[in-house]
Amino acid sequence: MSVPHAALKPQPASAFDVERIRADFPILVLKIDGKPLVYLDNAASSQMPQPVIDRLVCYVTSQHANIHRAVHTLSETATHEYEEARRKLARFINAREDHEVIFTSGTTDGINLVAQTYGRKFIGKGDEIILTTLEHHSNIVPWQMLAEEKGAKIRVVPVNDAGELLLDEYEKLFNPRTKFVAVGHVSNALGTINPVKLMIASAHVRGVPVLVDGAQAVPHMKVNVQDLDCDFYAFSGHKMCGPTGIGVLYGKTALLEKMPPFKGGGDMILSVSFKKTIYAGLPNKFEAGTPPIAGAIGLAAAADYLSGIGLNAINTYEHELLEYATAQIQRLPGVHIIGTAKRKTAVLSFVIDGVHPHDVGTLLNQEGIAVRTGHHCAQPMMERFKVPATTRASFAFYNTLAEVDALIAGIREVQKVFL
Ligand SMILES: Cc1ncc(COP(=O)(O)O)c(C=O)c1O
Repeated sequence: MSVPHAALKPQPASAFDVERIRADFPILVLKIDGKPLVYLDNAASSQMPQPVIDRLVCYVTSQHANIHRAVHTLSETATHEYEEARRKLARFINAREDHEVIFTSGTTDGINLVAQTYGRKFIGKGDEIILTTLEHHSNIVPWQMLAEEKGAKIRVVPVNDAGELLLDEYEKLFNPRTKFVAVGHVSNALGTINPVKLMIASAHVRGVPVLVDGAQAVPHMKVNVQDLDCDFYAFSGHKMCGPTGIGVLYGKTALLEKMPPFKGGGDMILSVSFKKTIYAGLPNKFEAGTPPIAGAIGLAAAADYLSGIGLNAINTYEHELLEYATAQIQRLPGVHIIGTAKRKTAVLSFVIDGVHPHDVGTLLNQEGIAVRTGHHCAQPMMERFKVPATTRASFAFYNTLAEVDALIAGIREVQKVFL
């Protein structure tokens, strides 16, 4: 089968200079089995631009040492750069205080931190935790583990056929036993943008704190934690053009202060004796051991890079890609989009009559097109839509309309082979 080359189509009318941006991403010129790479797996991991790569190389080649523990110049430099990264990320999400940014290994780590510290301390037998049908397993399993340990109960907000949360049902789930809400800002499997600000306000009226899983939001829209008024917000570096193994947990100072540490070890203490250990203050209390220093510095460079382009410009451009791709896919007979919410990020999950998503992914890969197939770590969502798996194309601001065309041509070819 043969699909169009990825760079021939005119770009949208907006002023977004995608070709200039693509030049920042060395990996995008790769060929896969001789075909130009069309990378549409950004919801799993996005790619890294040269300024982030350069920042990592600079750190590793001229600034690396362990932090917080020495008076020598390199250690002082590394410490300064690491804390500067925290400051930049605090500004990036508009946290009130730098120490409200806790470096984690990613979203999963951040959610587990909250479940195992706040959750273990403040959620008990018979208490209830509200989740939604749309959650990634990372925002389900840590709460189930806690619920099992404590004898607490999970309540779940249902969705309509478009993949939008039913807010009336959400309201009905609250009762005096409700102790926590954990909700994704954006669904990784469908792209639905949830009305988290409204949901947070509703929970707060009842005195219930809210954690937002922001893994799929931070790369695509301006996130302002003070405006959302969320109590916790977790996200991952590798989905926002940064490195793997690094993420951020934002938490409000008052809550973080009340929580016990997650992990014990060096750097999270003021003093240790066999009689008593006194823990450090924020943020160190939650950062035991040597942290991913290079990762944090790389993540701050990624935040700078995204801010340099502008999250609003990114959002507008990606929306154009989504609208174009949606219209094209809707024209294909036998192809069904799963997730048609009014407010979406540029994620297209679809099924093709008579073809297993795994085969779709395999054939598209032969054309250099990288998509994800499977349950996308959102099995309850798959069950709701009665599909075992979907094919998911997820776009970033460096994708082009020509790449959408390549995807559509690829799907047509898949249908020719199988039907
Ligand atoms: C919505 C959502 N939450 C959580 C995660 C987990 O992120 P990580 O694997 O970086 O911890 C993902 C990853 O796909 C996600 O999409």
